[in-house]
Amino acid sequence: MATGTSGAAAALPKIVLNEKQKKFETEDKKAYLECELINGGKVMDIIHTFVPSSKRGLGLASHLSVAAFNYAQSNSLSVIPTCSYISETFLPKNPAWKSLLYSEDLKSSM
Ligand code: COA
Repeated sequence: MATGTSGAAAALPKIVLNEKQKKFETEDKKAYLECELINGGKVMDIIHTFVPSSKRGLGLASHLSVAAFNYAQSNSLSVIPTCSYISETFLPKNPAWKSLLYSEDLKSSM
């Protein structure tokens, strides 16, 4: 088959942090994960993930998500998975990252 060559992982591009726009993105900026730092910069709310339709289904959003969760872990941030891709797809498939989630108890504490 000409299409569907395996090795999607090998084709995954480098992800860079665009601090100004608060995005983790591919170098061409076409795929990105957008976040917001809240609670005095201690909590990372992942708001939106976007991959161009021509590149979907190859694990690119997962790759962006790993970059964001790695960043959160390295910087001792907890994460709010507002983006449905993170909460409904990435975390169920990568449950180890759930340990970084922002606790509801903390959120509602006064
Ligand atoms: N919410 C949750 N999961 C979604 C989704 C969504 N809106 N869109 C696609 N998925 C799932 C697919 O069903 C697929 O699941 P499967 O592997 O069990 O078949 C999985 O994501 C594909 O994972 P991956 O290859 O890592 O994702 P991707 O690189 O194709 O990108 C999106 C996924 C969601 C970022 C991409 O489809 C997109 O940009 N969609 C438009 C914007 C959007 O809806 N963003 C999410 C809400 S903020």
